[in-house]
Amino acid sequence: MGDTEQEAYHKIHIAPASEPSGCPVDHKFTPFNADYLENPYPQLEGFNQEQPIFYSKKLGYLVLSSYEDIVSVFKNPAVFSSENVQDPVFPVCPEAMETLSVDDYNPVAVMSNRQQPDHTRIRKFTGEGFSNHRMKILEPYIHESCEELLDQMEEKGGPAEFVSAFGHPLPGQVIFRFIGFPEQDYEELTCWTANRLAFTWGNPDDQEQNDIAKNMLKYWRYCKAFVASRNLQPEDDLTSDLLAAHKADPEELSYREVESIIYGLSFAGHEIVSNFISLTLLNVLPDRELWGALCNDVGLIPNALEEVLRCDSPQTSWRRITTQDVIIGGIDIPAGTNIFLSLGAANHQANLFPEPAKFDIYRKNATKHLSFGRGIHFCLGARLARSEGQIAIEALTKRFPNLRLAEEQNFKFSPNITFRGPRNLYVEWS
Ligand code: HEM
Repeated sequence: MGDTEQEAYHKIHIAPASEPSGCPVDHKFTPFNADYLENPYPQLEGFNQEQPIFYSKKLGYLVLSSYEDIVSVFKNPAVFSSENVQDPVFPVCPEAMETLSVDDYNPVAVMSNRQQPDHTRIRKFTGEGFSNHRMKILEPYIHESCEELLDQMEEKGGPAEFVSAFGHPLPGQVIFRFIGFPEQDYEELTCWTANRLAFTWGNPDDQEQNDIAKNMLKYWRYCKAFVASRNLQPEDDLTSDLLAAHKADPEELSYREVESIIYGLSFAGHEIVSNFISLTLLNVLPDRELWGALCNDVGLIPNALEEVLRCDSPQTSWRRITTQDVIIGGIDIPAGTNIFLSLGAANHQANLFPEPAKFDIYRKNATKHLSFGRGIHFCLGARLARSEGQIAIEALTKRFPNLRLAEEQNFKFSPNITFRGPRNLYVEWS
């Protein structure tokens, strides 16, 4: 684990959540319910109208649904700390805990769960890492990867399982390339980084936790060895940029922080973008006119992608914990309360987004969604995610103007509290 409890990347000992008194209590709600996983929005729109703030007994979190409340939480990091965002929702089993208790598993919190003033210090360097210069280098590579994956998909013929053929490999290749990992390691890296989502935001059984913990350890050791190799021989990549910043001023960015940024980014930039691209197809393809409109005018794609983020976001929630007693919506909330921010509910608030369940690519205020957060932790990869989405959907419209969803398929969504996307998505074309 990290050097201090404050710095630890995964704080695997979770303090039991306290239950605020005087707050409506819901005994049924959990994001693991099958109907919620399939389509959370009917329930979330109900929360907006009936109980925008309540305590979920099953989850052990205070649930906030109102757009305004969530924005004010994001904008007040001193009171609403992000230190719990990488904590596993459920306790980790002793065997997995032992795996991660070895001395050399020591990543530190660097971004999403790092607190001030260190967060701002580190974000200066990671922000520079996502500069125009790096994005410009990356874009031709994203185009190239899209075309290669589509060539393979087309060659095999339809129906194709889109998530494994394109949706998942594309963002993996992009983030690995961005970091600078050697191409021959991509396959192994994909195995190691898979399922970290389940470890932190899902409810894996002991065996799964154990397997994932072993992979996390292998992956961390790989990151350390990789950063050491770039330290000896820099290349033109993000890792070398960060190491140069460290060498210029080791007090401002430590070597361990560089290792930990690399460890965290490959996860942050992978699964969620895969879900983003798959959810775009899931929302657009059933309406033939809509797909036709995007094929005829790729200029419509950016707002269509924003509407996916608003209407059917790959990230439906995020978390915070109160650092002091505070009042929200007239209710006293004690320090140490875990808060579940329902981004999905805020994105469907009817007074801000009329007919919220309607997927409308022409919606004027689609960009006002909260899917990338707000404030100091605003998603570092938002620009990259938008760029990957645009390039991927544009390539698909050009390659397969009559792409459609294969008939008679049931979509399954991975059981976790935060990230949404179909596990399989069969598509056809002619
Ligand atoms: C559609 C895709 C994505 C969505 C919906 C998304 C969403 C989010 C959200 C909600 C947050 C938390 C904001 C907060 O706490 O205020 C976040 C933070 C973050 N995201 Fe993303 N993300 C996406 C893609 C990416 C990509 C591609 C990367 C990196 C390559 C990335 C890296 C990060 C990092 C490093 C943070 C922490 C930033 C900080 O604490 O300063 N994300 N993202």
